[in-house]
Parts: sequence; structure tokens; C-alpha cells
Amino acid sequence: MGIVGAGPAGLMLGQLLHLQGIDSVILENRSRQYVVERVRAGVLEQGTVDLMRDVGVGGRLAREGMRHDGLYLAFGGARHHVDMSQLTGGRAITIYGQNEVVHDLIETRLETGRPLHFEVADVALDGLDSRRPVVRFTKDGAAHEIKCDVIAGCDGFHGICRPSIPASHLQTYERVYPFAWLGILAEAAPSSDELVYSLHERGFALFSMRSPHITRLYLQCAPDEDVSAWSDDRIWAELRTRLTTTDGWQPNEGRIIQKGVTGMRSFVAEPMRYGRLFLAGDAAHIVPPTGAKGLNLAMADVYRLAAALVEYYRSGREDLLDAYSSRALLRTWRAQRFSWWMTSMLHRGDSDNPFDHRRQLAELEYLVSSRAAMTSLAESYTGAPFEA
Ligand code: FAD
Ligand code: DHB
Repeated sequence: MGIVGAGPAGLMLGQLLHLQGIDSVILENRSRQYVVERVRAGVLEQGTVDLMRDVGVGGRLAREGMRHDGLYLAFGGARHHVDMSQLTGGRAITIYGQNEVVHDLIETRLETGRPLHFEVADVALDGLDSRRPVVRFTKDGAAHEIKCDVIAGCDGFHGICRPSIPASHLQTYERVYPFAWLGILAEAAPSSDELVYSLHERGFALFSMRSPHITRLYLQCAPDEDVSAWSDDRIWAELRTRLTTTDGWQPNEGRIIQKGVTGMRSFVAEPMRYGRLFLAGDAAHIVPPTGAKGLNLAMADVYRLAAALVEYYRSGREDLLDAYSSRALLRTWRAQRFSWWMTSMLHRGDSDNPFDHRRQLAELEYLVSSRAAMTSLAESYTGAPFEA
């Protein structure tokens, strides 16, 4: 197996295959340090937590991950609690940074002794519609070629795998949102034990965390926002304005140790396969981060793909591989619907008028007063069990 990309999808796929004795080579164009320090998602569905444990990479996650049974929705000056565990028969999410997930998966991969090459260049695919597809790359100036049975494109949205598929074989669906998130990490103890998603007249804000000492916060901003225009004081003032509730709750403040802007997009490429190339994770689909689904979808994809590959290597049967794309797309579109819904309910759009704001408030008010509506949110947010 050739695996392009050492993000959560590529690394987890490598581990799932390793446990079944299937050889793979993982190729990553960035350095190990860059991949491990990249600050991204932080919400793990139950399915992701269970998978990490089942593949033997869940030790530190079990010790340091922060289980959350609910979340808060804040609007009109008040915080409203959604008890997700109670509504879903015990499902929860766990806060554990994506960079920690990647760190743990890399350590485990290196312990297996199986190949994981960082800082490769010029990765290119060939013969995808043959039974012997090829990955070419250069490392330290030397050219290499790997002849594979199958290639997994786990190289994210900007990777080379999806563009290697002839355009006539791909249908793409896309929506780009007219806003982005300014995210920070701050050295401050979380002032709430659960996440707070807030709709404010000035835009969305999100309170999250990474550890008992680190708070993670996001503000809706412009897609081309210049981070340097945001002094620490300006960030805290805006966060206080958008997050403080009338009961006096607000985030604790501290030294800001990281700042970044993340654009927001919904994107799906269909099918998630061309010949012997299978796409997984962000290489095939992107969701806006409001539903916290990106990382979890990537994990659900490779769980399904690994099961199909194991069956193929064991019995030669290809029916699970043939079903991979259509089955993975079902979960993908559900997550697309949920992420779009959360995003549109909680953000101010460029063309929104006061009617739209009142409509959003009515939707939130309905949501927190209806057990049925809250159950729907909780089911989607905690995520369905992963399927092979
Ligand atoms: P990736 O994590 O993107 O991994 C792909 C890997 O492939 C990368 O390591 C990349 O360096 C490598 N690669 C790319 N091109 C090549 C090549 N040509 N050759 C070899 N390797 C290559 N989701 C949330 O739920 N909440 C968030 O707050 C959130 N924030 C995000 C912030 C940013 C800036 C980004 C980009 C994404 C964010 N996401 C968030 C989404 C989430 O992080 C992704 O869904 C998740 O990383 C998907 O994992 P993946 O393994 O499919 O892709
Ligand atoms: C975080 C990211 C999300 O996209 C989200 O919806 C909730 C929390 C986080 O980084 O902690």
C-alpha cells in the first residue's frame, strides 16, 4: 500500500493495516516537527476515541483527554446547556488536540519499524487505472518509485492525489463561506467545563480548551483577515463582548501563545475512488469547522477503507472496496448537512439583515426548548459509531 500524507487519515490507515500484517509506505512532504506542531481540531467523537484505543494508541488520550458529556449554546446573553450523553444514551466527545493525535500515531508508527518518510518532494502518481499503480517521489535529491497494489490519497485538501484523477471522472460540490475563524491558544485555565458556541450580533465566538491550563478560543472574522491587525488586547475585548453572559460568565484570560485564521468551506469530490486510488479525509471532502467533524470524518473513512483492504488481501474479494466510496459518501453528506446547519445558525452573513438575526435566535430558542431538536443536535455532534 502506498499512503500519501501523514495526517490523521494516513497515519491511522497505516496503523490499521499494520495490525493486520499489511505493508504500507507513508509519504509526507512536511517535516515531522511541522506536522506535530500544526494546531487544528480538538474535538474527538466517541468513534475516534474508541478507534484510537482499539489500535493501541489510546493510552495518553485516556489519561489526558477531557471527556465532555454536554455543551453550551449561548445567545441573547444566556448560556443553555445541552446534555448530549443523556440524550444519546451515553455518547460523549473528548477534547484532545489533533496535534496530540498525530504525535501519538507517529510514535506508534516509528515503533512498528514500518516506513514513514517525512520531507519527501515531487510526489506523483501513475498507472492508477492499472493493477500496479506507482508512486514516485524524491527524498534528499534522490528519485524513488514504489509499485503498489493500492494507493490511499490521504494528503488533505491541497494534496496531489485528488488532482491526479482525470477531471472527467470527478464531480465536485462546493460552498465557500464569506467568513473565517480567528483562533487563539491562551495560557489560561478553562472557565467552563464544557464548550460554549455563541451567536452574538457582532458574530460567532467559540470557547474551547486543550488542557486544564490552556484555553482555545475562536472569533468569526473576515476570510482575508490580517492577524497582525489583532493585538492581544483587541482579541480579548472582542471575545469578552461576544462571550460574556448575563450570569457573569466569561473566559479567563492569559498570555496568547498562538494565533491563526482558518477559512471556511464545504467541499465534496465524488466518487472517492479512481481505479486503484482511494481518497480519504480532507483529500475528498472539507467541512466548515463549526460541527467539529473534519478530523472525525477522516478517521471514519480510513476505518472503512482498512476493513475493505483487509478483506481484499485476505480473500481477494473486491466488493467492499467497490462499496467504499458510496458508503463513505453517505456519512460525508450527513456531516456536510450538519456542519452547514451549525455554521448558518451561528454566524452572521454579509447579506444578513435584522430578520436573519431574529430567525437565528428563534432557531436557537427552539433548539434549547425541544428535547427532539436537542437530541438531533446531540446525535450528530457526538457522531454515529464507525462502520466497516
Ligand atoms: P490533513 O490533516 O490535512 O493531512 C494531510 C497530510 O498530507 C498533511 O500532513 C500534509 O502535509 C500532507 N500532504 C499534502 N500534500 C502532500 C503531498 N503532495 N505529498 C505528501 N504529503 C502531502 N477540523 C475541526 O474539526 N475543527 C477545527 O478547528 C479545525 N481547524 C482546522 C484548521 C486548519 C488550518 C485546517 C487546514 C483544518 C482544520 N480542521 C478542523 C479540519 C481538520 O483538521 C481536518 O479535517 C483533518 O486534518 C483531516 O485529516 P487528513 O488526514 O484528512 O488531512
Ligand atoms: C474546536 C474546534 C472546532 O471546530 C469546534 O467545533 C469545537 C472545538 C477546538 O479546536 O477545540
